[in-house]
Amino acid sequence: MSVEKKINLLRKELHKHNYLYYMLDKPEISDHEFDKMLKELHELELQFPEFDDSNSPTQRVGSSLNNNFNSITHSFPMYSLENSYSSDELIKWKERLVKVLNTENISYSCELKLDGVSISISYKNGKLAQGLTRGDGNSGDDVTENIKTINTIPLETLQKVEYDFDIRGEVIIEKNDFIKLNDKKIKNGEEPFKNPRNTASGSIKLVSSKEVRKRPLKCYFFQIISDSNPFKTQSESLNALKKLGFNISNTHKYCKNIDEVFDFINYWDKNKDKLNFEIDGIVIKVNSFSMQKQLGYTSKFPRWAIAYKFQTEQATTKLVNVVYQVGRTGAITPVANLKPVLINGTIVKRASLHNEEQIQKLDLYENDILKVEKGGEIIPKIVSIDYRLRKSNSKKIAFIKNCPACGSLLTKNDDEAQHYCMNSNNCFPQIVGKFKHFISRKAMNIDGFGTETIERLLKENIIKNFSDIYNLKVDQLVKLERMADKSAQNLVSAIYKSKSQPFHKVLFSLGIRHVGETVSKKLSDHFGSLENLMSASDVEILNVDEIGDKIALSLKKYFQEESNLELLDKLKHVGLNFLQKKSENLGNKLLGKTFIVTGVFEKIDRTNLKEIIVQNGGKVSSSISAKSIVIVGNNPGPSKMLKAKDLGLTPISFEEFINLYEIKI
Ligand code: IVH
Repeated sequence: MSVEKKINLLRKELHKHNYLYYMLDKPEISDHEFDKMLKELHELELQFPEFDDSNSPTQRVGSSLNNNFNSITHSFPMYSLENSYSSDELIKWKERLVKVLNTENISYSCELKLDGVSISISYKNGKLAQGLTRGDGNSGDDVTENIKTINTIPLETLQKVEYDFDIRGEVIIEKNDFIKLNDKKIKNGEEPFKNPRNTASGSIKLVSSKEVRKRPLKCYFFQIISDSNPFKTQSESLNALKKLGFNISNTHKYCKNIDEVFDFINYWDKNKDKLNFEIDGIVIKVNSFSMQKQLGYTSKFPRWAIAYKFQTEQATTKLVNVVYQVGRTGAITPVANLKPVLINGTIVKRASLHNEEQIQKLDLYENDILKVEKGGEIIPKIVSIDYRLRKSNSKKIAFIKNCPACGSLLTKNDDEAQHYCMNSNNCFPQIVGKFKHFISRKAMNIDGFGTETIERLLKENIIKNFSDIYNLKVDQLVKLERMADKSAQNLVSAIYKSKSQPFHKVLFSLGIRHVGETVSKKLSDHFGSLENLMSASDVEILNVDEIGDKIALSLKKYFQEESNLELLDKLKHVGLNFLQKKSENLGNKLLGKTFIVTGVFEKIDRTNLKEIIVQNGGKVSSSISAKSIVIVGNNPGPSKMLKAKDLGLTPISFEEFINLYEIKI
């Protein structure tokens, strides 16, 4: 037998035995025999690197090379799910479906909502090509090397698949594995992990995949996405995916009507604790794919699916005091400090009280004994108070009249629940909040600015408005406490890079009231530039899809204020984008070309470079092939560089890329 054949045979056998062991729990060979085969394969691979395959079972062991988690655009966005908490809400959802679909005859696929970290994996020619985290839903981090170490994720499908597809699933740690993991940590004198979910999400982002391998991660899959999958329903697709070797929980159920959905919910509400993994509800999906298509998506959720959340766990504790936070818009949020208490595996110390009305409704007194509840990501909330345990001399909690930061008298509009401090230009936490928003990931994305640094720079009058950030020098920053030379240099280069953020992000970063991420994108798409937006009439603004009175008024107010106009002028002067680059104008110069982007670039943010490639018709990938074009910055990923060298590719710099393809930025 030729060496190549032998290698391929070993790989096939090992893939099969991995499946039998991890997914069917029916091993046919001993662990020892498995390890022997793996060793034999590993030795052959070392001897004959020409037969390397990034999906070989030997790749599961991971490496200690650094991951650099490139951010990659999802081929299909990753939406989240709308939540429901009662049968009434579910019935209302069903009624909406009936209305759109014009039929009562709707069947469902009911599934458990596993509580872990979601992952999207693309398979090409039946082979694992890339694994991405959810990220912001539009683009996620490339964690391919890490997920390959998870045995319940097939490196190849069991049968040939002609079409390419993405598959979505949840990476979790099962309860018994979590206990074992923590036992080990405690034995080693280390701090135990808090809960399975956070441990899973931390593990998937570890820098060394060899370390990821040591975490007992499992993946359950629940959704296939492809332009050309042959399935007609969700249930059918799950059964077929199982046959292809994907780990599908056998708890999913076809329900022919909403009554059967309720039976499923009631069953799991009673029996969820018997499961070996944590769930935070049930997912109900319209079973037919053609109906799903008809229903479509809102900007956040699919209309064809909904999550049903079980009543969450509650705990009793004591109120320590109420403090008041000042947000960037001046909104005052009362927060209850509580005696720490454990709920669902996490320690709860605080609960949001939202506003004055909430405090009144609860009828909150000092030192009250109360019940708190925590569900999923939701901030813990106070659900009830045990009035019997209240001491007779206790004082009622009275809402503050003045801003806790600057002392200004608070105001409240009758039609709003929140109190506001109107001293927006001089109230310190508001100013800090505005800067924090400006630099945040979804806005100007300037990494390396901690809250402390911002506060220091503001206190020392080094920055007064956003434009001052762009004049910061390394020697000014190193003078700050806890700012090393390297961090200061990185910060200055992050500031420089942020100048390439597109117009809609600049608009969002300004923090204009009611102008969030989606609204900024809509306004930028519609008007194309700040100039057009500023000169637009109310009617023109209101004509933009989903833009209402509140937003139009807020924009008008913002543009009327002299200090804002001065700021915009300065920001323009330092070189921020106030003009939207139209993707259709960029052409198709890179059509048919696939790029690998690795390393850190001085002149451009990596995410923006990738966007430019896509806008010019090119593709961005994380797996190198002989046809890839590698654009390389400082500190490139070592595994990528090795692979490029192996394939005889000559990497190009960012400048070479621009010149070679005549790319306009
Ligand atoms: S379907 C279009 N099915 O819940 C949304 N999600 O809150 C598709 N999740 O991001 C999601 N189990 O990580 C779906 N059986 C299941 C799920 C599930 C857990 C997670 C998933 C998703 C999140 C949404």
